[in-house]
Amino acid sequence: MTDDKALADRILALKEERDAVILAHNYQLPEVQDIADHVGDSLELARAGASLECPVIVFCGVDFMAETAAILSPEKTVLLPAQDACCPMAEMVTAGELAVLKERYPNAAVVAYVNTTAEVKAESDICCTSANAVKVVRSLHQKQVIFVPDRNLAAYVARFTDKEILPWDGYCLVHDRFSAADVRREKALHPRAELLVHPECRPEVIDLADHVFSTSGIIRHVCGSGAGEFIIGTEVGILHRIRKHCPETRCIPLSPRAICVNMKKTTPEKVLAALERMEPRVVVPQKTAADARRAIERMLELP
Ligand code: 13P
Ligand code: SF4
Repeated sequence: MTDDKALADRILALKEERDAVILAHNYQLPEVQDIADHVGDSLELARAGASLECPVIVFCGVDFMAETAAILSPEKTVLLPAQDACCPMAEMVTAGELAVLKERYPNAAVVAYVNTTAEVKAESDICCTSANAVKVVRSLHQKQVIFVPDRNLAAYVARFTDKEILPWDGYCLVHDRFSAADVRREKALHPRAELLVHPECRPEVIDLADHVFSTSGIIRHVCGSGAGEFIIGTEVGILHRIRKHCPETRCIPLSPRAICVNMKKTTPEKVLAALERMEPRVVVPQKTAADARRAIERMLELP
């Protein structure tokens, strides 16, 4: 038996003993995705976390995702195997800064991208993910919408609504680095390929895309195509799931340097250690969790 197989078997056995479920984001390392019960985008993982019956969730992703699971299921133990796996964009706006903005625009609704801290969600009216941001904003009756923290997702949403979107100036370090020059270079090399990008990309990249989707939306589009050639404008971890489920398609990363280092901090060894020690746990203070839950559940209730 290989070391990897032995490690995976130990994780599986301990997972059963603890009655735990492993959730992994689409950007996780291949070996982590392969030991997970569910792999998905932020919205799918939030829904899975809320609906699972198990007492323990091992969250292979970044902190805000595990926090969302802990907020939705306060009775469950939520483990984040890589305690330092954070999303730098989520740190770009604080609850205090948002409160100041709310005072300046008292009639505006507040939409918090799920890539935010629990404290920011608690200050918000509703959350959104990349999969439902347009739908969330359209569901609001207010004409003005404060949108935190991603300026690029805010600009993307603004294309589909006549509401006044008031964006925060945050951005994803990975997606904001894609440029129109990257697109021109890859399109010249692969002229028949469709360009699929994540809405965290800059407007100049969105303008050139054939389709804009969440991470799972990209996977569904590629796998639904049967075969074909695609340039993928998001973090490269997504390619593992595409290759696994639809190996007949050809996917080229828009940039091979599009790596979210925080998403790569989780390893099978850390998953095993988390299950052994039942640590590190994600715990959100009760009042913050209750306020944040309202904003997340309002999003999940949308049809
Ligand atoms: P998705 O919800 O599309 O998976 O995106 C999460 C994310 O962090 C993108 O950078
Ligand atoms: Fe955050 Fe960007 Fe990493 Fe997604 S890819 S977790 S937005 S830093």
